[in-house]
Amino acid sequence: MNIPEITAAEAAAMICHEEWIGVGGFGPAGSPKSIPAAIAARAREEHDAGRPFKVNVVTGASIGASCDGELAAADAIDRRLPFSVNAEIRKAYNSGRVRYTDLNLSDNATFLRQGITGPVDWGIIEACDIQEIRGRIRIYLTAGIGIAPTICHKAVKGVFIELNSWHSTRLIGMHDIYEIEAPWYRSPIRITQPVELIGLPYIEVAPEQIKGIVLTHQPDEARAMTGSTPVTDRIGQHMADFLVDNIRQGYINGSRLTLQSGVGSGANAVLGALGSCPEVPNFNIYTEVLQEEPLRLIREGRVVSASTGALTISSEHLVDLYKNIADYRGRLLIRPSEISNCPEIIARLGICSLNTAIEVDIYGHVNSTKICGTKMMNGVGGSADFTCNAMLASFTCGSTAKDGKISSIVPFCSHVDHTEHYVDAVITEYGVADLRGKCAREKAEALVAIAHPDYRPLLRDYLKLAERYGGHTHHVLNAAFAMHDTFRRKGDMRLTDWSEYLKD
Ligand code: COA
Repeated sequence: MNIPEITAAEAAAMICHEEWIGVGGFGPAGSPKSIPAAIAARAREEHDAGRPFKVNVVTGASIGASCDGELAAADAIDRRLPFSVNAEIRKAYNSGRVRYTDLNLSDNATFLRQGITGPVDWGIIEACDIQEIRGRIRIYLTAGIGIAPTICHKAVKGVFIELNSWHSTRLIGMHDIYEIEAPWYRSPIRITQPVELIGLPYIEVAPEQIKGIVLTHQPDEARAMTGSTPVTDRIGQHMADFLVDNIRQGYINGSRLTLQSGVGSGANAVLGALGSCPEVPNFNIYTEVLQEEPLRLIREGRVVSASTGALTISSEHLVDLYKNIADYRGRLLIRPSEISNCPEIIARLGICSLNTAIEVDIYGHVNSTKICGTKMMNGVGGSADFTCNAMLASFTCGSTAKDGKISSIVPFCSHVDHTEHYVDAVITEYGVADLRGKCAREKAEALVAIAHPDYRPLLRDYLKLAERYGGHTHHVLNAAFAMHDTFRRKGDMRLTDWSEYLKD
């Protein structure tokens, strides 16, 4: 193979100030680690020499800490999209140092192909193997894909590959790589069940597209999840009862039950609790991130088949998966983000989506992204892709945050990512608010009933006050954010005094 073996520093040296880099992987899974860290080191050197050096970074979703964390700490990022889960870069977004575009993951690859993002100058991809067959290069990816296929084909100056021997080549055959055609000429994407193969197990490019291979041996950077809590267990049990009831009512086909589950410890624990509930039939998963609990459920046979964008699991779990890969073949596939989050497939498979809310308002709007309406948490990720297209779109959250000082159910969301029209159900540890078929007033009653008992009287008082103003969706606009404002001023939403907001 006539591709130069280079160091990460040599790769970083080819990248210029203000260029766009496209990074493969999805979350910490399969994300390149050594070249992004070398770009951060290069940025520090340039800054020390008084020269500007920042790059624009597009990824499939979030990315490992050695990319977002290191680059943000080195002040080496100008623009970033579409999603991230990293404390360092979060600080940079919220102080205005990084220009962040929060984008639905399903749109990301299409935007790249259309040239709306970019043009992407360089691609950086992690692979477990590379082969030259009949003059073409086949790249076999690792634990996550993201937008790697699109980056490989669109990178104007070329692609660097981190060939990471930490990942096992046993992964070969677990990927289903397919790029969506342009709109207007797009043929149906023929996935009719989660593990139906439609693509290739590798990305194929011309040899001249690859500018260098960096040999590495580094584990993925996924953290172990925090375990379940009494709150997540109760949410899981309520969700399980709700699903079983939906199957009984005939709203969901129990023999084709297919779930999506969002990111975070909460989502992981809720899915685990759901799997442990004997009344829930064995199910399939079609999702963007597979965390540790669903993986356990695959091993136990509770999950029949699973399609994911990434294996977001700790190194120990990944090593175990590689060792026992035969158990997963034919039952587990890793796909690019435009397929894992594809609206067409989500709708066709009749998915029940389970995402996590930061806050929900009494009429069913959901905030997934902004703390108190202003501070970016992570981004919308794929939650809207699933919520807008799922057969049953649910959100879970603990009824309170910050030791009870914040209620997750509020009069008006301080930011809205998902409108009431897409949100079918909300689940807290106090029960399920099934919002389907309900009018605004009924939605409010159902949501107040699952708020924390400390906040129910406060929310009921708000509703009584709001009724006086009439209309279809009752609000006192002066007081709609009083709970947020009270938290800001007094540090506890329970201290909300509506009269302070009803002066005129
Ligand atoms: N107000 C203020 N802070 C709040 C809050 C609220 N209403 N609700 C939660 N928080 C804080 C928590 O206290 C915690 O703070 P800490 O980091 O200082 O401890 C933080 O937000 C995360 O909350 P946690 O309960 O640990 O949530 P999680 O790990 O389950 O993640 C989301 C929850 C919403 C942040 C996460 O799911 C997310 O980013 N979702 C959007 C993207 C998405 O859904 N992607 C999946 C699609 S497939």
